[in-house]
Amino acid sequence: MSYLQATNDLYKEAALTPDVGLCCTTNPIWELPGLKIPRIMQEMNYGCGSTVHARDLSNNPKMLYVGVGGGMELLQFSYFNRQKGGVVGVDVVDEMLQASSDNFKIAEEENDWFRSEFVDLKKGDALNLPVEDNSIDVAAQNCLFNIFKEEDLKRAIEEMYRVLKPHGKLVMSDPTCEQEMNSVLRNDDRLRALCLSGSLPIKQYVKALTDVGFGTIEIRARKPYRILDPKNYPTDELIYIESIEVAAIKDPMPEDGPCIFTGKAAIYFGDEDYFDDHKGHVLLKNQPLAVCDKTAGALGSLERDDIFISESTYHYDGGGCC
Ligand SMILES: C[S@@+](CC[C@H](N)C(=O)[O-])C[C@H]1O[C@@H](n2cnc3c(N)ncnc32)[C@H](O)[C@@H]1O
Repeated sequence: MSYLQATNDLYKEAALTPDVGLCCTTNPIWELPGLKIPRIMQEMNYGCGSTVHARDLSNNPKMLYVGVGGGMELLQFSYFNRQKGGVVGVDVVDEMLQASSDNFKIAEEENDWFRSEFVDLKKGDALNLPVEDNSIDVAAQNCLFNIFKEEDLKRAIEEMYRVLKPHGKLVMSDPTCEQEMNSVLRNDDRLRALCLSGSLPIKQYVKALTDVGFGTIEIRARKPYRILDPKNYPTDELIYIESIEVAAIKDPMPEDGPCIFTGKAAIYFGDEDYFDDHKGHVLLKNQPLAVCDKTAGALGSLERDDIFISESTYHYDGGGCC
């Protein structure tokens, strides 16, 4: 049986019998005026962060959500786009599509603004999306892509890139791990499907996105996720897994490489009112400017004693240099 089949089987089970401990997100449930998340959706929250960020969602964007789970994030996305078919939800597991559809009926009863028709549920595979080219403003996936092995991950990202409109956003949350995972862990289909042993280091995860062509990357959050310990898993050392929230934007690739925002800022504290690098970056005195890693590197290489560049905070919330 392939690892993809093992994944389908695991999520069929998780659709039929909700498993509260399946993925572990420390995110609080969104509280927005008039939004009520049904209990069953909370129990079927199989994500590892949030892909719902209000600042992505103005002007009724056309949205795509791949790997629907219990439907919680689709309901949250619908909150921002209350139109028939405003959110397309794709999943390869029939039972998960049925479970989310049932959960939307409960959501209708608890939210007077919501109608099930706001979500267009489609059977389909992340590796071959049933969605037209250049048709989506905001695409999202939460805790699915980490399961994919290298070639499938590339394919899944290419599919998201294909369906996004120019400047559209792919918003994601996935586990990441900076430690080496041994091959027993890597090749354990069940641990992979459980979002435990497929995770990549952040740099490699980001490279998979920029290799496909996304010109801007934002790392929005980085949090503790899980531990694989030698008593319970086939590993000699304790492995620490984090989860990140990332947006990949279908901006053209800059000639000098992608803009990757990891939460760095530059602060000019010299004698003038501002510092201008004449490459589009103006640092007002004593005001932090969020900079991508490329700009941080370029400013750092000037070796000035009046520009401070912070470490990556892995918390970027916009307003950056490019
Ligand atoms: C870890 S769960 C995450 C569910 C949801 N995103 C959440 O945050 O609760 C993975 C989801 O992806 C679906 N899935 C698994 N393989 C898939 C594939 N190849 N294409 C599309 N969906 C898939 C599963 O059925 C399940 O709904």
